[in-house]
Amino acid sequence: MKEKMKVGLIGCGNISGAYLKAAKTFEFMEISKCADLNPAAAEAKAREFGMQAVSVEKLLADPEIRIILNLTIPKAHTEVNLKALNAGKHVHCEKPLAITRADGAKVVELAKKKKLLVGCAPDTFLGAGIQTCRKLIDDGWIGRPVAGTAFMMCHGHESWHPNAGFYYQTGGGPTLDMGPYYITALVNLLGPVKRICACTSRAYDKRFATCKELYGQKLPVEVETHQAGVLEFANGAVITVVMSFDVWKHDHSNIEIYGTEGSMRVPDPNGFGGPVKLSKPGADWQEIPLSHCYADNMRSIGVADMVKAIQDRRINRCSGDLAFHVLDVMLAFEESSKSGKHIVLKSSCKKPAALPLGLHKGELD
Ligand SMILES: NC(=O)c1ccc[n+]([C@@H]2O[C@H](COP(=O)([O-])OP(=O)(O)OC[C@H]3O[C@@H](n4cnc5c(N)ncnc54)[C@H](O)[C@@H]3O)[C@@H](O)[C@H]2O)c1
Repeated sequence: MKEKMKVGLIGCGNISGAYLKAAKTFEFMEISKCADLNPAAAEAKAREFGMQAVSVEKLLADPEIRIILNLTIPKAHTEVNLKALNAGKHVHCEKPLAITRADGAKVVELAKKKKLLVGCAPDTFLGAGIQTCRKLIDDGWIGRPVAGTAFMMCHGHESWHPNAGFYYQTGGGPTLDMGPYYITALVNLLGPVKRICACTSRAYDKRFATCKELYGQKLPVEVETHQAGVLEFANGAVITVVMSFDVWKHDHSNIEIYGTEGSMRVPDPNGFGGPVKLSKPGADWQEIPLSHCYADNMRSIGVADMVKAIQDRRINRCSGDLAFHVLDVMLAFEESSKSGKHIVLKSSCKKPAALPLGLHKGELD
């Protein structure tokens, strides 16, 4: 077996534990070192997961590290991504790729110039649930997809996240936060988006934090917290998308796709499993057994796919081009609302390659 490819983690906060746990599934890679602006956070994760805590500068200069896993907050993604690429490392970043198109483009272009890979979350579309949907659509089970809906509506994160302020600052909001799961899942299923029109609003100027760390604090809201759009995909499908932090309760499904020969209910794109449901004309919903591997929490499968892509000289599935297109779509919600016009997207991307059938845990090709 080839030597394990070494990955260095920057940003040892809330989500890092899920990555560090799941990464152990892939024997061909190892997250061996970690760093954080707050050295105590890096040391705590290093102790828990058997890594070495170092400074950000030391990690970037370490010749053993081939990939930087960037799990910092959205506002810091570009700075850390550029530093990683300039240090000659491939970089896989949490979502969103960036908070402006200019920053996203800088990262993708620098990676191309340096012949390095850039990758970005989410990697949940590589899970068993959405890969099963992809196979059903590719095999024609619902005919030609013509329409659909995607709903992510909740009341934000200030009831549980110890550092919830960033969700309401520039670079936050429901679309940049949760849109990557939904839009990436849709692009994986249907291909790229052609144009979008949207209306956006915000219910509150301040959010009242109730998590124990911030209890009673009023978090200023700088962004639109309800965003409703209609997306026309290049394949002709018209999908209604609503992303909101202003809704206490609702009964809509996460994603439904309507085709000429049936309907499909796609599972929560913020998870890896099912259920996947299908309805043929005149029949009720039927749950479809998952055809693919990886139904458990596998955050880090995107990094593992990057390792394989480097070794096999192919494009990583969670590619920079895909993440940039998703960012382009998400930013267009507010632009369309402000201008009162459709936004025709300048970016596009290919559907990522589907995962093959018959993989065992720990395999990707
Ligand atoms: N928390 C979740 O459930 C969750 C789920 C999925 C994705 N995400 C995404 O993961 C990312 C991180 O979220 P989180 O909840 O772990 O945030 P967090 O605030 O808990 O952790 C972020 C960590 O990054 C460090 N950091 C910030 N800027 C840095 C810099 N320039 N250099 C080095 N370290 C830096 C902070 O000190 C902190 O320890 C975000 O992009 C978020 O959208 C979070």
